[in-house]
Amino acid sequence: MLFLNKDAIQKIDQNTIQTAVKQAYKLVLNKNYNMPDRMHVPDNQNTLLLMPCFSEKFFAVKLVSVFPEAQKHGQPAVNGVMVLSDNISGQPLAVMDGAAITAERTGAVTGLGVKLLSPESIHTAGIFGAGVQGLSQARYLLFNRKIKTLYICDLQKESAISMSRTLKQEYPDVEYVITENSDKLVEKSRLIIAATTSSKPLFEATGDLVMEKIFISIGSFRPDMQEFPNSVIENADDVFVDTMFAAKESGDIAIPLKDHVITKDKIKEFAGLLEKSAISENKTIFFKSVGMALFDLTVATAIYQMARKHNIGQTLEF
Ligand SMILES: NC(=O)c1ccc[n+]([C@@H]2O[C@H](COP(=O)([O-])OP(=O)(O)OC[C@H]3O[C@@H](n4cnc5c(N)ncnc54)[C@H](O)[C@@H]3O)[C@@H](O)[C@H]2O)c1
Repeated sequence: MLFLNKDAIQKIDQNTIQTAVKQAYKLVLNKNYNMPDRMHVPDNQNTLLLMPCFSEKFFAVKLVSVFPEAQKHGQPAVNGVMVLSDNISGQPLAVMDGAAITAERTGAVTGLGVKLLSPESIHTAGIFGAGVQGLSQARYLLFNRKIKTLYICDLQKESAISMSRTLKQEYPDVEYVITENSDKLVEKSRLIIAATTSSKPLFEATGDLVMEKIFISIGSFRPDMQEFPNSVIENADDVFVDTMFAAKESGDIAIPLKDHVITKDKIKEFAGLLEKSAISENKTIFFKSVGMALFDLTVATAIYQMARKHNIGQTLEF
């Protein structure tokens, strides 16, 4: 059995990870997987998620916790363990760092979103949240589009500075602008990604300021949490979700539905974009991701196969 920690997982290239996310959507289109709704166990402000899934040859389960206040203790909000097993023999194949898998696959979900939703002409983007997911979001955004200016907004200015320093080493030609003015970030950016632990909308901009832009929301994993104001979804020409479960789980969809700002028939599954593109120079688009175990399964499978091929990781005996 292989043990793959964060360093081992980060050795796998972005293209492999993003292709694995695309593979998950193909399985969605073909209905070729077995995945129950994930189990949510709330405990005060914290949440434990149990995420199992089967494909034809593999199965996996990720146990992941979200502790929004962890930063106060100098710790990341998301932690977890992932076990990948063989679906023929039932044998466990690998134990992996669930937080690292989560960061990579969530970045790649946005990466594929950027690729299939935004025109190649976009040169400005903004990211709310400079935590673990924020950095991964930025990496996959910059992997897919030639961004000239990237705006970063975080409640903790130090986090935004630290993220821009890391990115500067990887993408030195990009201009990084740290801003505390969330409306300015929206005004200046063609594409806006939110990866925060916020429960309330991150900005107030409405009307023209949100038009002809692409919005991707990664945080807001509970029905009472919302990252973007209703005006975004109200003005959106297209609304996509990675899984229809998002309408139940995330306030970014559940709140506008409850407020009658949109109706359910406006919400489309992202997997459909593999068959029909939505890219347009002047559409307003909203994509909400809550993640799903199928992403973890296809990404963990791809990572495991690459690790075996290139001798990455540690072999363990039970
Ligand atoms: N969609 C998915 O598949 C998926 C996967 C993993 C995590 N998530 C979610 O993404 C969110 C971020 O996770 P993380 O691991 O990066 O957490 P993190 O604690 O590492 O980072 C969150 C950052 O958001 C910032 N923030 C909070 N409120 C803000 C606000 N109002 N304005 C600007 N910045 C603000 C915090 O200061 C922090 O730096 C969490 O809600 C998590 O549950 C989603």
